Amino acid sequence: MKKIAVLTSGGDAPGMNAAIRAVTRGALYHKMSVYGIGRGFEGLINGDFHELEMSSVSDSMQRGGTWLKTARSDRFMTPEGFQRALDMLETFEIEGLVIIGGDGSFRGGLELSKAGIKVVALPGTIDNDLSYTNYSIGFDTAVNTVLYAIGNIRDTSSSHERGTVIEVMGRHSGALALYAGLTGGAEIIVIPEETVDINKICKTLIQGKNRGKQHNIVICAEGAAITSSALKDTIVERTGLDMRLVILGHIQRGGSPTARDRMLASRMGYKAAELFLEEDKICKAVGIQGEQIVACDLEEAIGVKRTYDKSIIELAEIIS
Ligand code: F6P
Repeated sequence: MKKIAVLTSGGDAPGMNAAIRAVTRGALYHKMSVYGIGRGFEGLINGDFHELEMSSVSDSMQRGGTWLKTARSDRFMTPEGFQRALDMLETFEIEGLVIIGGDGSFRGGLELSKAGIKVVALPGTIDNDLSYTNYSIGFDTAVNTVLYAIGNIRDTSSSHERGTVIEVMGRHSGALALYAGLTGGAEIIVIPEETVDINKICKTLIQGKNRGKQHNIVICAEGAAITSSALKDTIVERTGLDMRLVILGHIQRGGSPTARDRMLASRMGYKAAELFLEEDKICKAVGIQGEQIVACDLEEAIGVKRTYDKSIIELAEIIS
């Protein structure tokens, strides 16, 4: 019987539990045995391995976070830690590993694959910063969480006729800011991929005020060239507008996954299990392109240049 294992790594994302469930039940369906590894690559090093049954993943799909726990492992980056991880996989006779995480986790997976482990990586990150796939697990839920926050902030902001700079997550990626900004009706969206034009921002806000706007929403990604706090201060200094700053923080990473994320996680998780039916060396990244679940070469997937859709900012400017 083939033995595979699944772990979650890096920042958690809503829908990871749904993915673990689909991997587990998909593997059992195909008569493989499956282990859950706790605490990401740290658990791989420490032998935090637990055999999973159908019931191990019951009542988990609707829960945010990851019940397997996750970690950002510095030890895995060292030659000793990496070797320990390989030894542990050999000890438990694990042939294949499903890694659910972001860019850094994918890179760890690629190294394991070079050392002879069959690897399938699933994109699990609210950042949606892996360009080989249209969407990552967790992104849709995070967008909706930000939207909910924007709605509440808009209520109080309108009552007081003031503006708010809302900082959203995304150290290197503006995807969350772009999607939440456009769908939340933000006047301004500031992302790490673009330079910051303070004159343009202030002009837009003043013109809005002159048109009788009751409030302003400025969405600023955490990795933007200007901090959200400096942005708010600069706007106040330049325009005299009454502004507040709200940093949403980790609230964006929690919560029950949306239907869209559960669907994505279920389809991707099952696909991962299915890939291990092949006998050959496997080193794949599962993604979604259009409506199709696809399996790409992992190294090529990591290599796809990160892009963003500039037209979303332009559209937000036109219709907000
Ligand atoms: O998982 C991605 C992410 O949420 C980024 O958007 C954010 O910059 C980072 O993780 C925060 O990480 P941590 O929870 O380790 O502080």
